Amino acid sequence: MKIRSVLLGLLVCLAVTTTALADEHFQLEAPLGIDVEALLIPEDNPLSAAKIELGKMLYFDGRLSADGTISCATCHDPTKGFTDQAAVSTGIDGQKGGRSAPTVINTGFIHFQFWDGRAPSLEEQAKGPIENPIEMGTTHEAVVEKLSKVEGYKPLFNAAFGSEEVTIDRIAMAIASFERTVLSGNSAWDRYVYNRDESALSESARRGLELFEGKALCTRCHVGFNLTDSLFHNLGVGMDAEEPDLGRYVVTKQEKDKGAFKTPTLRDISKTAPYMHDGSVATLEEVIELYDRGGEPNEWLDPKMEKLGLTDQEKADLLAFMLSLDGDWKIAAPEKLPE
Ligand code: HEC
Ligand code: HEC
Repeated sequence: MKIRSVLLGLLVCLAVTTTALADEHFQLEAPLGIDVEALLIPEDNPLSAAKIELGKMLYFDGRLSADGTISCATCHDPTKGFTDQAAVSTGIDGQKGGRSAPTVINTGFIHFQFWDGRAPSLEEQAKGPIENPIEMGTTHEAVVEKLSKVEGYKPLFNAAFGSEEVTIDRIAMAIASFERTVLSGNSAWDRYVYNRDESALSESARRGLELFEGKALCTRCHVGFNLTDSLFHNLGVGMDAEEPDLGRYVVTKQEKDKGAFKTPTLRDISKTAPYMHDGSVATLEEVIELYDRGGEPNEWLDPKMEKLGLTDQEKADLLAFMLSLDGDWKIAAPEKLPE
């Protein structure tokens, strides 16, 4: 027994060193304005080109669902700003969930996954939808068995992990690696700030930027290059429902977290309507109105929310600024999945 576990340990060590070595030269391209050093990468899952390639295949592969129809990209579709552009998502057998699919863009920088932050890492997150009965509706065992029989995956798993074995952890590690490359930067805003390119932003968008950082109070929560504080706030959205979604409270059970949701990034925000955790706000114009009236009144409204008193011109300027946050990334589905 003992010798076996020592041997096993040695094998694991060897595997770990080889992957680490293979990754030494790996460099992720950083779009303008994006601090790739800030990516959250677990020590046991360093990025490698092979893992990213495998992860991309898996991300777009419907075989991760019970009946082959639903992939991660069904709900987080690159042609829709990595969302499904629906108020709530539709999973297996047309079943609807209770929350809106957030974008996967720049999610590698986020400390807590999901609107309520219940998953600590992308690796943990990726395993969830597969077994979620209203998302992909299958089991980890079934997916592992199905993918193990796909000849075309064998060389990809081998290149990524040093053997052909398919495991749920490897699937999650590869998908998470791919997600960490879904980076959006080099927007008009980035070019204005970092390249000092005055022509990148219209006058209206420039005034909008000033409002965003000033009178409109947006940077109280949407801060930094990814435009989020990675914290949870109650804006009052959906709190008038008969049984409101209590968001972060469900995870922490702390009174102050009732109805609080994670501050999302605003990058590529023009592409991901409808907005908010329940998809209840249809347009960016309506988002601005919501903030202008100081959010929706409720017992737990975040004290950072205040009535703004914006003029029509200021609202238009704020909108122009938000439209300047589209990145220039080009990520598309693979032409062919492994067979
Ligand atoms: C049926 C639609 C659906 C499918 C399929 C799906 N997701 Fe999601 N995803 C969602 C919804 C809805 C949420 C938000 C749920 C919540 O916050 O409780 C979410 C949340 C996430 C988040 C958290 C993002 C953030 O900012 O917090 C990530 C990352 C993610 N999904 C990746 C994936 C991956 C990877 C797969 C495939 C293994 C996948 N999703 C499959 C609908 C889906
Ligand atoms: C108190 C913190 C806070 C402030 C201030 C704030 N936001 Fe938000 N923002 C959030 C949170 C939290 C959400 C998600 C809330 C939810 O889903 O219930 C959000 C959501 C959004 C969304 C929708 C994003 C999506 O993917 O659905 C947009 C757009 C937005 N905010 C823009 C702004 C603008 C513009 C301002 C300034 C006028 C602003 N925010 C001020 C915290 C804040």
